[in-house]
Amino acid sequence: MKISYIGSGYVGQVNAVGAAFYGHDVILMDIDAEKVDSINQGIPTIYEEHLDEQMKDIVLNKKKLRATLDLEEAVKSTEISLISVGTPDKGGMIDLSYIQEVAIGIGKALKNKNEYHTVVVKSTVVPGTTLKLVKPLVEEYSGKKAGVDFGIGMNPEFLREGVAWNDSIKPDSIVIGSQDEKTKQTLRAMYSWAPEEKITYVGINAAEAIKYAKNSFLAMKITFANEWANFCEAVGIDAKEVLEAIGADKRISPMFLRNGPGYGGSCFPKDVNAIVHAGQVNHSPFRILEQVVQTNHNQYLKLIDLAEKVVGPIRRKKVGILGLSFKPSTDDTRESPALRIIAFLVSRGCEIKAYCPQGIPMAKKWLESNRITEIQYQSDGKSCVEDVDLVIVPTDWPEFKEIIAQTTVPTFIGHRSLMDPAKYAHVYALGYPKP
Ligand SMILES: NC(=O)c1ccc[n+]([C@@H]2O[C@H](COP(=O)([O-])OP(=O)(O)OC[C@H]3O[C@@H](n4cnc5c(N)ncnc54)[C@H](O)[C@@H]3O)[C@@H](O)[C@H]2O)c1
Repeated sequence: MKISYIGSGYVGQVNAVGAAFYGHDVILMDIDAEKVDSINQGIPTIYEEHLDEQMKDIVLNKKKLRATLDLEEAVKSTEISLISVGTPDKGGMIDLSYIQEVAIGIGKALKNKNEYHTVVVKSTVVPGTTLKLVKPLVEEYSGKKAGVDFGIGMNPEFLREGVAWNDSIKPDSIVIGSQDEKTKQTLRAMYSWAPEEKITYVGINAAEAIKYAKNSFLAMKITFANEWANFCEAVGIDAKEVLEAIGADKRISPMFLRNGPGYGGSCFPKDVNAIVHAGQVNHSPFRILEQVVQTNHNQYLKLIDLAEKVVGPIRRKKVGILGLSFKPSTDDTRESPALRIIAFLVSRGCEIKAYCPQGIPMAKKWLESNRITEIQYQSDGKSCVEDVDLVIVPTDWPEFKEIIAQTTVPTFIGHRSLMDPAKYAHVYALGYPKP
């Protein structure tokens, strides 16, 4: 099939390379000329394991993928367009301005296209967006009718950053939201390589809701683990023992049941906020999720509390920070607890050295936009633990283990699973009450 992805960020790039991997001819469209140039040279603009070699092969050798700045050309040259632009948080609500802009652009392009086209929303959008915003805009600007002249669908994305390539080519589940048979079959054909049992067919509003239900459940599960770990630490119990034991129960499962400095990333924080807001405006509040947002917002402070118990008041201390991305194996630092920790420490007059295998460029951009400029970024982790009073490790990149094992500086790790604090006198972990 000929497929276009409108929006070439994490979701666009990973999905486009995945679709081309399965033999489709793919166009990535974006308004960012640097991204388009880079993709056309076969170089991803994001870090994801395997994506660089796959994109290089697919763009340069197989020639199954190219990028463009021209939305009309992308729509006219393909039979299906998947909208994958950002839907960021704006004051605790979803910002649909990028979706709106693209829907208008697709409508204008369809006005001049004779062949049937299918428009699919892949971005995470609150229930009602596809049918109440995207569909009417495409109809208005194209002068055509959904379900007659063009298809409309919703296909939420479930990739996890850090393992996105694998998630894209071997997804756990695929949700196809549609209201007409032709759109349903077009999307099924796009995923012809996927076994039928992996696919759930639902209506468009339900497809939008499923994405939020999943993300908010997982955010709640992490928050549950964090509150239990905080309690265990307070009463002298090793939280790992408790969380692992309850995770062994099949009804609970160990996934997303590890404590840490709070969830972050480009999805959970903004998605939980957006659905909490949607609950409020629809007079059906999500009380549990409202509390999840509050609790998660303060969880990063637990690492500071832990450090202060050992080294005394944090004010003016020299601190090494290992890990800036919101989780290992990604360069994404959006809503990373590490950045919140840095902002807090800077406000207390601390001197910061920071290192992350992939996250420095994005972290630097965010910190500088918040006028935090005095961070000493390091080119390796080892120098981050030298000449400092303490080390904080918000993100559990496995390569930090060796660096932490070799220093004697008091080190405070967010994720108990990174290494065993019982084996190292200088290592302290959230949820682990050091005797
Ligand atoms: N990143 C994830 O792990 C993930 C996972 C599942 C779902 N999602 C959802 O997928 C969507 C995209 O997320 P992302 O992380 O890829 O975002 P992103 O910010 O990485 O990428 C968005 C891209 O859209 C482009 N864009 C903005 N306006 C445009 C326009 N008018 N025309 C064309 N391109 C335009 C931007 O330049 C950018 O490259 C969001 O709704 C997000 O919630 C993301």
